[in-house]
Order: sequence, then structure tokens, then C-alpha cells
Amino acid sequence: MPATGPDDPQHQLLNTEPTGAAAATAAHQAPAEPVATSSGPSEDDILAVLRGVIDPELGSNIVELGMAKGAKIDDDGQVTVKIALTTSGCPLRAQIQKDTKARIGSLAGVTGVSIDWTELTAEEKSATMAVARKNATDRATDTAVPATAKVLAIASGKGGVGKSSVTANLAAALADTGLNVGVIDADIWGFSIPRMLGLEGRLEASNDGERPIITPHSMPIGAGRLDVVSMGFLVEDEGSALLWRGLMLNRAVQHFLEDVQWADDLDYVVIDMPPGTGDVAMGLARMIPRAELIIVTTPATGAQKVAARAVSMARKSYLRVAGVIENMSVFVAPDGSEHALFGSGGGLALAEEAGVPLIGQIPIEPSVSAGGDLGRPVALDDGPAAEAFAAIARRLVEEIAPPVEMAGCTARMFDLAEQALAEFDAANDA
Ligand SMILES: Nc1ncnc2c1ncn2[C@@H]1O[C@H](COP(=O)(O)OP(=O)(O)OP(=O)(O)O)[C@@H](O)[C@H]1O
Ligand SMILES: [Mg+2]
Repeated sequence: MPATGPDDPQHQLLNTEPTGAAAATAAHQAPAEPVATSSGPSEDDILAVLRGVIDPELGSNIVELGMAKGAKIDDDGQVTVKIALTTSGCPLRAQIQKDTKARIGSLAGVTGVSIDWTELTAEEKSATMAVARKNATDRATDTAVPATAKVLAIASGKGGVGKSSVTANLAAALADTGLNVGVIDADIWGFSIPRMLGLEGRLEASNDGERPIITPHSMPIGAGRLDVVSMGFLVEDEGSALLWRGLMLNRAVQHFLEDVQWADDLDYVVIDMPPGTGDVAMGLARMIPRAELIIVTTPATGAQKVAARAVSMARKSYLRVAGVIENMSVFVAPDGSEHALFGSGGGLALAEEAGVPLIGQIPIEPSVSAGGDLGRPVALDDGPAAEAFAAIARRLVEEIAPPVEMAGCTARMFDLAEQALAEFDAANDA
């Protein structure tokens, strides 16, 4: 029997790029398993989700860095995980603790999470630094998404529920509060982000000798900034778009994550995921396991069942689901009366089923659609929809996915190690 087969989750994580017709069908296949199972996680499951916990200063995940030292799972679902830090007084400990608890807590069957903290030995520390240094070199540093940016992927079970509207408006609402936000339009079939943000024109690409490096379109918003990439900025016309789509079916996200000159000061990167997120989500999990999914659904209960598939897919890829946004919730008439045109309760039902928060509800409002057509996100104006987007942005920043605070412990160590190695290299070259 081969080491990995198509049904092996490891295989699926590693081989996420089926081509041609296989890719097209894979993207639309429903997952075989329900959202939750009754049995608890294995140690492998726990290590897999811990790949989403990143040491923001070293820019790699704690499993790869050798900081996750194994996990114990009790019959009652209580998980104890051992984590070794570079120094026990590390100010980033709180961040790592929070992320660890959130990630493991999202696994089916987990009732509680505790962390057994220890410190890396001197030998382990140098191995950790070697991994971090190698990753930093491999990453072509200035083109990848900075490790300090929170990555939020906006997904849904089916098309047309408002993913792109939510992406554009959420990004604008975040920027309006003074944050710098990267926006990736990963929907190469129906790129709508350029229109919704009122941006056009080809992206500039320079060549570093091996591959093109793309500079995103940048626009100031409030006290912050949006840096935006989309397939719409890369293709000349619909004809070449079709060609690109064929070539890049599953590569768009990778291309936009790796070959773009993302600024170091990004607080968030918001990704508009294509519909039928199956293999794209898996690809995302492989490239950037710390990414978190936000599932958009409509209030109809039928839609909620379809959206549950997206949650299930995310869990299979070990991506954290940060929460649910219900779009097209109610229609508020000019006289203030509310009308639930598309039913009600779907968002909350999905959130409860998935065990994640309902982050917010966005009313149906003609200005959402008009703002999208005019290229001026409604989030920057007034009214119920703008207030809803502002409230969602606030909740993300304050509670659900706060920006990473750089506290500085391993970074200093890393700098010292880099400096020492540079001196060593210089001495050897001389
Ligand atoms: N809250 C809302 N109120 C009114 N219209 C809305 C709202 N949200 C989205 N729309 C409109 O619904 C349509 C679909 O929205 P959008 O394009 O954002 O969905 P999508 O999930 O990205 O779709 P696709 O799967 O095609 O990419 C658009 O015309 C948009 O303007
Ligand atoms: Mg869309």
C-alpha cells in the first residue's frame, strides 16, 4: 500500500492541485463527512491544528519550530498540550496561549484545553533558530504576507450570498479605523473586487530574475489603507482571462500570497474565496495554515445547510473557522419597519451548529449593491448596513481575531542570531 492515498487527509493536504476536469469536479463535490464526529481528536489532529499557531516574530508555526512537544487527550475530551518557549518570560506567550486554545478547542470532541509550558533547551533553541532562518530565506522575505498580518478568508457554501460584498466592505471598515488591510480577490472566475472598490488598471510587475513580483494597487481609506490584488488587474480582456483561469484554477491564491510584494505593516489580509471552496481551502491551509475562515450565509435555513459544508471543509483542512456573518438579514424599510425577506435564523443556526460565534448580521440594503456598482463601499457611508459592517470590524479587532501585537522576545533573539551568522559568513568570506 502506498504511504498516502487519495482518502488520506495528509495526502489531501499535500496534493491540493488536481488539474483540468478533475479540479473542476473536485471544486463542486460535497464533503463526505458531517461537521462534527463524536470521537475525540488524535494527537496527529492536534499537531495539525497547531500548525495554525504561529510565532509571529519567527514567522513559522510552533510545530515546525519544534515548540509543540506533544499532546495528551483524556477520555473526557480534556487536552493537555506541552509547549516549549524560547524564554519562559516571553511576552508572546499570551498570544500563543490564546491561539493554541482556540485552535484545539475548535476540534470536535474537545472539552477543555490546558497548556504545560516549558522552555527550549539551548540545543533546541539553536535548532528552532535554524528552522526560522531557513524559512525566512526560502520565503523571499519581501514578497510573502508578513507573519504579523491576520489572514481572514471569506468563504461560503454557495455563490451569490455576498462574499465579495462582505470582503470589500469589511476591508474598507477595517481600514477606516486606521488599519492597513491587504485584499486578495481569489475568485478568478468572477472577480468583482476591482469594481466594488472602484479600482482599475494593470498591476505593475517587476522581475527578480526568477519570477514576476507584483505590486498591489493601494488606496488610502480613512486613517488606513487597502492594498488590493485581483485577477481583474492582471488580464487584458475576457479572452485572456479564460486562458488564465484554465492555467491557474488552483494557483490563484498561491500566486497572490507568494508573488506579491505585500507591505510589512499589514494588519489584516482579507481573501475573497471562490465559491465551492474545497480544494482552494486545502491549498490555503497548506500555504498559510494560520488563515481563519469567516463563513457568509443568508438567513434561509436551506442556505445554512449548504454553508455547513464550507465549515466541514475548513475543519478537514484544519483551518480555524472564526465565525459566521449572516448577509441579507432583514430589509429595513424607510419607515423603520423590518422585513425578513429571505427568512431568518440561518446565521445563528449555522453558528451554533459549528460552535462558532455569529459575528454579525448585515441587512439587505439597495446601497450595498449600489455601492458595489459605484466602487464606493457602503461601509464608508451611513445607514444600517454601514453600521453593521463597522460593528463587525470592531468585533473582529477587539475580540474574535485581534491584530497581532508585537511584544518582542524571540525577535530580539532572532536578530542577534542573524547578526552573529552574518558576522560568521563575513569572516568566512574574507
Ligand atoms: N446586504 C445586501 N443588500 C443588498 N444587496 C446585496 C447585499 N449583499 C450582496 N448584495 C448584492 O447581491 C449580489 C451578490 O453579492 P456578491 O457578488 O457580493 O456575492 P458573492 O457571494 O461574492 O457572489 P459570487 O459567488 O458570484 O462571487 C450583488 O449584486 C450584491 O450587490
Ligand atoms: Mg464574489
